[in-house]
Amino acid sequence: HKQIERFPDTFLFGASTSSFQVEGGQTSGGRGEALHDRSPKKAGITDFSTASDHYHRWEEDIDLFHELGLKVYRFSMSWTRIMPDGKNVNQEGLAFYDKIVDKLVGYGIEPLVTIYHFEYPSKLVDDFGGWLSPKSIDAYEEFANVLFTHFGDRVKYWLTINEQDHVIKISERLGLSKESEGVEFEGQVQQANYYMCVATAKVIKLAHEIIPNVKIGPAVNPMPAIPASANPLDVIASMTFNELSHYYILDLHCRGKFSPIHWKYMEDRDICPEVKEEELQLMAENTPDFIGINYYLNQTVAHSEKEKIELRGQGVFMEEEAGIYKLVENKEIPQTDWGWNICPEGLSIALMDVYNRYQLPMLITENGLGAYDEVVEGEIHDTYRIDFLANHLKQIKDCLSLGFPIIGYCAWSAIDLVSGREGMDKRYGFIYVNRTNDELRDLNRIKKDSFYWYQNVIQERGYSL
Ligand code: BG6
Repeated sequence: HKQIERFPDTFLFGASTSSFQVEGGQTSGGRGEALHDRSPKKAGITDFSTASDHYHRWEEDIDLFHELGLKVYRFSMSWTRIMPDGKNVNQEGLAFYDKIVDKLVGYGIEPLVTIYHFEYPSKLVDDFGGWLSPKSIDAYEEFANVLFTHFGDRVKYWLTINEQDHVIKISERLGLSKESEGVEFEGQVQQANYYMCVATAKVIKLAHEIIPNVKIGPAVNPMPAIPASANPLDVIASMTFNELSHYYILDLHCRGKFSPIHWKYMEDRDICPEVKEEELQLMAENTPDFIGINYYLNQTVAHSEKEKIELRGQGVFMEEEAGIYKLVENKEIPQTDWGWNICPEGLSIALMDVYNRYQLPMLITENGLGAYDEVVEGEIHDTYRIDFLANHLKQIKDCLSLGFPIIGYCAWSAIDLVSGREGMDKRYGFIYVNRTNDELRDLNRIKKDSFYWYQNVIQERGYSL
């Protein structure tokens, strides 16, 4: 096909962060406790209390984003900074994000706000069990209402829930303990998933009522499957994997329907959620304006011979679903230092597949390489990151050339931040933050080679890609 020379001039080149990974200021400004403040061990560092200290250095950081040339900046507004107990509004929290939004808008950078990025108020878990209760739907809607009313005049792009497909598979993010595994847990997970879908539809409806010209959608993390061989059983296994890994959520968001494979999966295990017809209708009538896609890796999938029906368990990546699929190694595909497959073509597969199923515009809300960076005489030569990002951007250029509607691209991450699970060793940013897991150092910012590279990509709208 004929290639476009440059990305469209309306294309939103951008970068992302999330509040708890970048801000620090954990107890400053009246911020309340969120779930991850309680169980920080998983991140491999003592805590998230300082993170990248963006809470104090936001001004310098946004100056750097402006220098980088970002057209859009995706960040999340911490629920407990704005509603410390999940109920009452803290004006200081709103004031903090006012400063950020105003500075972005002043620079002509479009703010893209994630309403909920893994930060759940502990108080609401203590009070009613968080996402495991239908009360979470109202609590989330109330928070969104505060955000839309306060920031709706300046923020037109919103994301509802970040990676619902992953949140529900990690027990601590739901406020559950590891020991809760079993049929009961599996049922709770499916119920929580359903509540999140209802909550999403309500908040989409609300946004459309309150904010003129708003664009709102979910951000999912599809790991599109490649069949392990030309054996048709492997092809069916990989299609089934996609249903159980992300389409079961997107079908509810975009159609108000359960994916048949997913419903059968739940029926067989006796873990179906309680469903109300009017809630499905609410979903069908309040669909997203676009679909946000976080893409890091894909999976290679083979048929599983086992016959026993088993429960999923709590892993983020379920290695095998007995009798359905199993994940296998793919020698063609290189991996990151953390064993994540590097497959830029997987991004095209995800974009094409998702569009062909829902016909909605798409925005890449995360994509990046977690790597160890070394400072050599004050510089960071992260050519590996440049290669990774360039190869993924080339896939987007290809998809645009084929006519797929892609609104923008937000690399993960704008600046180094605390990795969700691996602490500060695993860096993603265009801007280096001088700290390690154990040592805070001076937290100074250093522009990496990838910073200058991306600056040029944005300036020439991807001409050399
Ligand atoms: C996404 C999350 O799942 O992946 C981010 O939305 C996260 O919050 C990113 O940081 C990379 O994952 P990790 O575990 O390397 O931080």
